[in-house]
Amino acid sequence: MSSDALTIERSALEQLAALLLERAGLKVTPDGYNGLRLALQARMPATGLDDAGEYVRRLKQLAGEHELRALLPLVTVGKTEFFRDSRQFAAFENEVFPELLKFARREARPVRAWSAGCATGEEPYSIAMVGLDRGALPNEVECWATDLNPVAVENAARGRFAIRRLLGVSEPRLARFFNLVDGQYEVTPQLRDMVHFDGHNLAAPIWPQVKPQSKDLIFCRNVIIYFDQPTILAVMDRFYDSLRPGGWLFLGYSESLFRLPTRFEMIEVGGVFIYRRPMRGGTTSAMTTVVRAPTTSTPIPAPAPEVVKTVERPTPKALPLVVGLQIPRSTAAMPSPVLRAAQPPGTGTPVQRLDQIIVDIERGDFPRALRLAHALAEDSPDDLAARITLGNVHALMGNIDEAREAYQAALQREPLSVEARLYLGIAAMQAGEPEVARQEFTRALFLEPTLALGHYLLAQVHERRSDPEAARRSYRNAINQRKGPPHALIGHFPDLPTSNEAIAQAAQYRLAALSER
Ligand SMILES: C[S@@+](CC[C@H](N)C(=O)[O-])C[C@H]1O[C@@H](n2cnc3c(N)ncnc32)[C@H](O)[C@@H]1O
Repeated sequence: MSSDALTIERSALEQLAALLLERAGLKVTPDGYNGLRLALQARMPATGLDDAGEYVRRLKQLAGEHELRALLPLVTVGKTEFFRDSRQFAAFENEVFPELLKFARREARPVRAWSAGCATGEEPYSIAMVGLDRGALPNEVECWATDLNPVAVENAARGRFAIRRLLGVSEPRLARFFNLVDGQYEVTPQLRDMVHFDGHNLAAPIWPQVKPQSKDLIFCRNVIIYFDQPTILAVMDRFYDSLRPGGWLFLGYSESLFRLPTRFEMIEVGGVFIYRRPMRGGTTSAMTTVVRAPTTSTPIPAPAPEVVKTVERPTPKALPLVVGLQIPRSTAAMPSPVLRAAQPPGTGTPVQRLDQIIVDIERGDFPRALRLAHALAEDSPDDLAARITLGNVHALMGNIDEAREAYQAALQREPLSVEARLYLGIAAMQAGEPEVARQEFTRALFLEPTLALGHYLLAQVHERRSDPEAARRSYRNAINQRKGPPHALIGHFPDLPTSNEAIAQAAQYRLAALSER
């Protein structure tokens, strides 16, 4: 059965939109029904169903949860823009690309770039524009652009953009690289020919399409936020193998491998941090400063004792109900040793600035944490971690409305953010709204069923709702995650445990307490 042969009635789309809202909190208005239709066309043939109503009925059942989860990334297109993160693009344009072009010319080959998780194509077209602006000939730059979402890939390959999406493109570039067609801006054939789009799942364990050491640079920005830690490590390993020695990896503004053991070195270029596969023989180019060269044997650094002092915290107005969680936090949630050299407030990389905020939260200096979090969110309105951290500081100060506003802003940017859902649940508990909390934790768990903390918090809501049976079930689910994958959540919230083992112990304790009643 060809997917084109499918007829999809509007009522099926309406039911699907309602289901997405209930399970994942995803709002799809009738404007987005065409995207739903394309996603159904992509998924339905694999299930052997050709009736959309039947397919949606299956999604509603427990057995259809897996399929609904598989559909999710196809119905949301991640936010993106041309020349997103201008500082990174400046470093790429002024320092990284000219060096790569010089090497590639010496070897009489093109510069090979990969935009991994390219969404609707703004990123790879930006890379190609930089190449031409820096004097490369069109056949001197090859950009492979991939995404899991076939709808995004299809739109990207079309290369047509409404004017509102071209805000980051300068006038000269608009004139040079776009033609006005039917009221929209279309990339020129020359630019389009430099970018080749494909569907590709980064989380798949092998990437047969990618030859070892075939890429000079990889942009994978604002994508690994979707992955758990083992997946991130596996993806980084495969990126490493795909890059030539000396090849560059650009991650998102606040995405960092800082606490993860990888073979990449982190290098400062023009004031931003970029990862690099070390050159053969370990030499580094003259333009760069190596900040840190982690190896697989690098232990996760412990916090600097002079910074992470245990200072008595003033009691915030309202703390979330987290019964029985008197558990030491793992070092993974602690600030990095970069802070040893105390940064002036509001300066440093986004990761360092987030770390400063954590230090202030731990010290109990909430007003300063709030100031810094506001400044960070303002400087990088697009940054998920900044939004969520701002929400957390508000929540800790008892400003529940402001906290919710910040989490909603995070969801605007990343509709599938597990953290935003989880923290919205905590805010609802603080506000004394257990039914809302139950809904948000359930959504977080739909997005990430192995999230031990989500099961634990859901159990606590059930306790509040005087539903001990459901509470027991959820505590057992939390305990079952003991050997499950760890989840490094964006955003710091004191007194929430981070390790599955700690959560399992707390759940066992609560389970025993419930049985004694
Ligand atoms: C927020 S967008 C980022 C777009 C662009 N890289 C940027 O920074 O502007 C994230 C993209 O990652 C894609 N994505 C998520 N999981 C993926 C996976 N497993 N494999 C490939 N792409 C994935 C999503 O479909 C989405 O288009």
